[in-house]
Amino acid sequence: MPATSLDQIVSLCKRKGFIFPGSDIYGGLANTWDYGPLGVELKNRVKKAWWNHFVRQCEDMVGLDAAILMNPRTWEASGHVGSFADKMSACRRCNKLTREDHWEGLILQSEWYKSLQELYFSKETATLEDLKKWGEKTAKKLAPNLALVRNSSVTISWLAEFLEKTSIATKEAVDNVHILSSMRQLISYLATEQFNQTGLQLPCPYCGGELSEPKPFNLMFKTHQGVLEESSTLVYLRPETAQGIFVNFKNVVDSSHMRLPFGIAQIGKAFRNEITPGNFTFRTREFEQMEIEYFFDPAAQDWKQLYENWKERSEKFIEEVLGIKKENLRLRDHDPDELAHYAKRTTDIEYKFPFGWGELCAAVAYRTDFDLNQHQTFSGQDLRYTDPDDPSKKFIPHVMEPSFGADRVTLAVLIDAYEEQTLPNGDVRTVMHFKKGIAPIDVAILPLSKKENLIRKAQELYKKIMYETDLTVHFDVTGSIGKRYRRQDEAGTPKCVTIDFGTIGEDAGQGPPDTVTVRDRDTLEQIRVPINGLLEALKGS
Ligand code: GAP
Repeated sequence: MPATSLDQIVSLCKRKGFIFPGSDIYGGLANTWDYGPLGVELKNRVKKAWWNHFVRQCEDMVGLDAAILMNPRTWEASGHVGSFADKMSACRRCNKLTREDHWEGLILQSEWYKSLQELYFSKETATLEDLKKWGEKTAKKLAPNLALVRNSSVTISWLAEFLEKTSIATKEAVDNVHILSSMRQLISYLATEQFNQTGLQLPCPYCGGELSEPKPFNLMFKTHQGVLEESSTLVYLRPETAQGIFVNFKNVVDSSHMRLPFGIAQIGKAFRNEITPGNFTFRTREFEQMEIEYFFDPAAQDWKQLYENWKERSEKFIEEVLGIKKENLRLRDHDPDELAHYAKRTTDIEYKFPFGWGELCAAVAYRTDFDLNQHQTFSGQDLRYTDPDDPSKKFIPHVMEPSFGADRVTLAVLIDAYEEQTLPNGDVRTVMHFKKGIAPIDVAILPLSKKENLIRKAQELYKKIMYETDLTVHFDVTGSIGKRYRRQDEAGTPKCVTIDFGTIGEDAGQGPPDTVTVRDRDTLEQIRVPINGLLEALKGS
């Protein structure tokens, strides 16, 4: 069975050392996460696979590693100072903040809403009386700041009055909350106390209190460079790695003599003061991006065709390189009103997370010549590209941008690999089916017992694999062999190599001398392999 809730993944991640809560011994720091021994290997492999796929194996790509702190003019030029803002509302009761475009998702996930929905749909005719009772019992606990809880008679009377006024209202209908056109309207009534003064109020997803009017909130983290905390020393933590690429466009062209079309890739940290972070590492305030800015001449290349090509290249990385299942992926084009200020068109790859479909990455965004033009204007530098075949031809290239979050992609890899499997003997094992090459450990060496000559032989093999291949190898001698197999299954190790008394020529019943048992994580098949063919077998499998 795959993971049905994020809690299963969070718990496995902590238990196995993939991901720990940040600052754990101090009670944590909300929405920060630290990658443990297995997690850092897994994320490094995701990043390495990305770099191989998009940079090392492509003639038209080069890399970059720009500074996180940049001249603040960068962010004026890019539009982030002016428009990198989300609309947010504050709850007038609990003070929690809710991003306007996350309100619906948060409401749907809230316990009080789920319970109300049950009441609404479970009874053919849920009455105002039922609603009142729900307010007195359930909502009192789950959403204590709903107007229905604080002042139920007034709220119910507003609701009844509204129902009376509607043209479809009949005596029966007044008592029947089903006539409300939507749950949204219903919960707004339940959150409204002074209808005449305030009109309908939207409820806070956390406590049911009234939300304020949404206001824009800039997401960039600010700090100061140097000792003085004044406006002249203000700098921002970069909210995207992309701008480091744009400001280095001229340096790269001049130093590397790249000809259009070509791309510059970068992996690095980005920071956003997210209003509603959450869902484990899905949305955090500090995260890592893997981004490409692909520059081209719009007069020489059809942008629509290039756009489709990049969509395919991004999909190929997610499906074929990382091995994420196709049925858990879908493409989604941005509606015109949700496009970022710089984008003419954007297509996301979405993943089916346990909490619903969510953006995994931007497969591609067409940023036109927006960024280079802006930087040219703000910096006063000539950022035009000169055609090497016709030096009189100078122009600002256009840009395609595939943008991946390393943490979000790693989270999807973890969720996609997870399976709770019931074995024929009735045992349940948790197994992580990471794709070979993505798994944090490639091979585990397991001596059957702690006997000295067995350990010596196992250590010999361990070092041979470590030094003579690029496989990541792990040595484990603690616990029964069955327990060790389970541990490696949870770590997602594709192959376990067991060294037994047959290997050292002391028990022919266990196997011929100089042979080992290789166990496959997915099929559970165990085969006997001669030691002198082991490296080949492990590399090829
Ligand atoms: N340069 C374009 C850009 O930054 P974006 O859609 O805002 O576009 C790209 O971000 C990717 O970065 C997202 O698809 C996601 O994978 C990742 N990402 C964005 N915000 C994130 C956050 N708060 N936490 C984790 N990952 C995030």
